[in-house]
Amino acid sequence: MAERKEFKNKRFQILSEKPVNRHTYLKDWPEVGITAHDGVNDPKPSIKIENGLVVEMDGTRREDFDMIERFVADYFIDPEQAEKSMTMDSTAIAKMLVDICVPREEIIQIAKGFTPAKFKEVVTQLDECEIMMGIHKLRARKRPGNQCHCTNEPDNPVQMAADCAEARLRGFDEAEATTGVAPIAPLNSVALLVGGQVPNVGLLCQNAVEEAVELQLGMRGLTTYAETVSVYGTERVFADGDDTPWSKMFLASAYASRGLKLRFTSGSGSEVQMGAAEGKSMLYHEIKCIMLTRGAGVQGLQNGAVSCNGIAMSVAGGVNSVHMENLVTAMCDLENASSNDQIFSPSDLRRAARTFPLMWAGTDFIFSGYGCMPNYDNMFAGANFDSNDYDDYLVIQRDLVVDGGLRPVTEEEVTAVRNRAARAIQAVYREMGWPEITDEEVEAATYANGSRDMPPRDIRADLDAAREMMKQRVTGVDIIRALAKTGFEDIAERILKMQIHKIAGDFLHTSAIITPENKVLAAVNNLNDYQGPGTGYRLQFYPERWNEIKSIPQESSPEDYE
Ligand code: 5AD
Ligand code: CA
Repeated sequence: MAERKEFKNKRFQILSEKPVNRHTYLKDWPEVGITAHDGVNDPKPSIKIENGLVVEMDGTRREDFDMIERFVADYFIDPEQAEKSMTMDSTAIAKMLVDICVPREEIIQIAKGFTPAKFKEVVTQLDECEIMMGIHKLRARKRPGNQCHCTNEPDNPVQMAADCAEARLRGFDEAEATTGVAPIAPLNSVALLVGGQVPNVGLLCQNAVEEAVELQLGMRGLTTYAETVSVYGTERVFADGDDTPWSKMFLASAYASRGLKLRFTSGSGSEVQMGAAEGKSMLYHEIKCIMLTRGAGVQGLQNGAVSCNGIAMSVAGGVNSVHMENLVTAMCDLENASSNDQIFSPSDLRRAARTFPLMWAGTDFIFSGYGCMPNYDNMFAGANFDSNDYDDYLVIQRDLVVDGGLRPVTEEEVTAVRNRAARAIQAVYREMGWPEITDEEVEAATYANGSRDMPPRDIRADLDAAREMMKQRVTGVDIIRALAKTGFEDIAERILKMQIHKIAGDFLHTSAIITPENKVLAAVNNLNDYQGPGTGYRLQFYPERWNEIKSIPQESSPEDYE
C-alpha cells in the first residue's frame, strides 16, 4: 500500500484522517479485469442458433466455448426466445425495465433469450435510481426479507442460541452460522436450530462450512437451508476449486432430494481476485454466474460481490455495478440475497450509500448477513451492519416508511427469549450428555451483548462432543426428543414443523420463507406484482405491520412536553 501522505493544509490533513480514506481506491486496469464493467475483452452481444443449438454466443464459436459458456448456452438460453430477444434494441429493453406498465413476467420472458453480453448491454444503460426501480419491480417475493449472521468468536453455544432467538424476535427470516474452529460446526448448527425457534416457528438456519460437512448437517436435519455453494465465471477459477458447473448442479440436487432450501453464491471480483479474469470485467463474469445458477435449476443466489467487495468497490462505479448484478439476478427470476454483508469500508456514509438503496428497493433478503451480534464476534470477516446499528436501522425504516425486514423490540421481550433459548440449549446439552452449560452461563447469555460478556468455556470438551455427535449420527430428531423430554415441548414442536416443511417440499419454491404463523411465503403464493403506485408491497396496505415498524420504544407522547 502507498504510504499515507502528510498535508500542510489543515483541511486536507483532517480529511485524510477520516474513515473514508482508510480504503484503497484503484484506477481501472481493464487488461487484467480490474474494472466494473469495461473489460478489454468484454464481448459484444451475438448469437447463432442451428437446429435449436447455440453454435455461437457473444462472438465465440461453440467449439471454442469454455465449460461455463457451454453450460450457460445449453441450460440457460431458450433458443426460441433468443431469436426474438437478441434482435431487440437494448435501450428499448432497458426502458421496459423501469416502465411500470411492463409487467415483471414480460421482462423475465425476454431475459430467457439473452446472452451474457446482452444482459450487460441492457443493465449498464440504467442509472442508480433506475437499477433500484428495476429491482423494486423484478424481485421475486412480494414481501422483502432479511438474513443475519449469528456467530461468536469462541463458538459459545449459549450465546449463539440466545442471539439467534433475539434475531428471530427482531424479524429475521434466515440466520447463518460459521465457525471459528471447523470441527465445532455441528454444535453451532444445534444452537441455531434450537435458539431460532424460541420466539415463534419459522427461522431458516444454515451453517457455512466445507461443502460435504454442510450437506451432511442438512441431511441430518440440523439445518434448513444452505447458501455458500460458490460458482465462478471462468473455467480456471472453477477448476481451482475442483469443481465444474455440473458438479455444483449435482450438489444442488442432493440438497433438493431432502427438501432443503438452497441458493448458490457468487459476486463481482472473485475471478480477478484469483488472477484469472481474462481481461473481462467483473460484471461480465458475474452475469455468467447468475445465468449458470438459473441453468442449474437452483432457486436463488446470494450475490452483490459478497466477500469480494473489497476489490469490487475499490474501482470507479463499483457499488453501482454490484447493484446491477442484483438486478440481473431478479431478471433471471431467482431469489436474491443481495449481500450488504461483509464490511467494505469503515465510513458510515459510504456503507449507508451502498446499503440503503437496496433497502428502499426491497430485495428477497436485503442483507445476506446482517451481523446480529457485535462485529468482534463476526466470524465472517466482519459485518457491514451489526447489532450496534439496530436502532439506526429501525429509525430509518420509520423515517422512510419502508419495510427493511426488522421490527422494534423491548428489553423485556429480548430478555425473555434470550433466557428461554439459553435454558433450552442447557437442557439439550444435559440430555445429550454434552459438556455442561452452567446456570451462570445461562444468566450471562440472557444479558450479554457479546462473547466478552460471557464466562469462558472449555473449547476442547465442546470439540470432543461435536466430533462424537457426528460419529453417533445425531439428527434433528434427537434434538427434538431432548427438548420434548425436558419441558420445552413448544420448541420441539416448532423444530418438527420445520422438518415437515422439508417433506412437503415447501423450501423448494423460489424465495420461500416461513412466517411466525407457520405459513409459507414464496414467489408462488406471494409473487411480486409491483406495477407502480397502488400496487405491490407497500406499508399502506399492511397497517398492522406499519404500526409495528413505527412504534419504536423510544417514542414519547407530545403531551408529555406540555
Ligand atoms: N464468489 C463466490 N463465492 C463467494 N462467497 C462469498 N463471496 C463470493 C464470491 N464473490 C462464498 C464463499 C465464502 C462464503 C462466505 O460465501 O464460499 O466462503
Ligand atoms: Ca449469507
